[in-house]
Amino acid sequence: MKKSILILGLITFFFVSCGESKKEEVKKEVETPAEPAKEQIKSSNDYLVLGQKLFTEKTCVTCHQPDVKVIGPSLKDINRIYTEKNGNIVAFLKGEAPAIVDTDPGQVAIMKANIDGFVKNLSNEEKAALAVYINSIK
Ligand code: HEC
Repeated sequence: MKKSILILGLITFFFVSCGESKKEEVKKEVETPAEPAKEQIKSSNDYLVLGQKLFTEKTCVTCHQPDVKVIGPSLKDINRIYTEKNGNIVAFLKGEAPAIVDTDPGQVAIMKANIDGFVKNLSNEEKAALAVYINSIK
C-alpha cells in the first residue's frame, strides 16, 4: 500500500516538474526569440542534458530504446555501427548521409519520414545534442 502511494507521488512529481519546465521554455522563447539555444549551451554536459530532453520530447524514444529494438534500432546498435563504419549521426539527421544501421527500404522510409517531417527543422545545435545523447548510451 505504502509503495503505491510513493509511486503515485513520484508520478505526480514527474508531471508537475514536466509542466514547469515546459512553462520555462515558453518564457525563454519569448524573451530571446532570435537565438534561444545559444545561451543554454555552455558545456558538453549541456549538450547531453538537452539531447536527452529532446530525445523524449521529440518522440525519438517511442521508436528507439537503449538496449532493445522497438520499431527502430536500439541506441547501442546505432552507436556500434556508427563507430564501426565511422558514420556521422548529425549528417544523417540533416538528411545528408544515407542510413547505415538498418538499410531495409521499409525501415529507412519510416525514419526518413521523421527527418523530412520534423528533424530537419531542429537547429544544428539540437541535432548535435541528440547525437551526443545517443553516443552516451554504451
Ligand atoms: C516512428 C518511429 C521512429 C521515430 C519517432 C524515430 N525513429 Fe529513428 N529510426 C526508425 C527506424 C525504423 C530506423 C531504421 C531505419 C534507418 O536506419 O534509417 C531508424 C534509424 C535511426 C538512426 C540510424 C540511422 C542509420 O544510419 O541507419 C538514427 C541515428 C535515428 N533513427 C535517430 C532518431 C532520432 C534522433 C529521432 C528523434 C528525433 C528518431 N530517430 C525518431 C524509427 C524512428
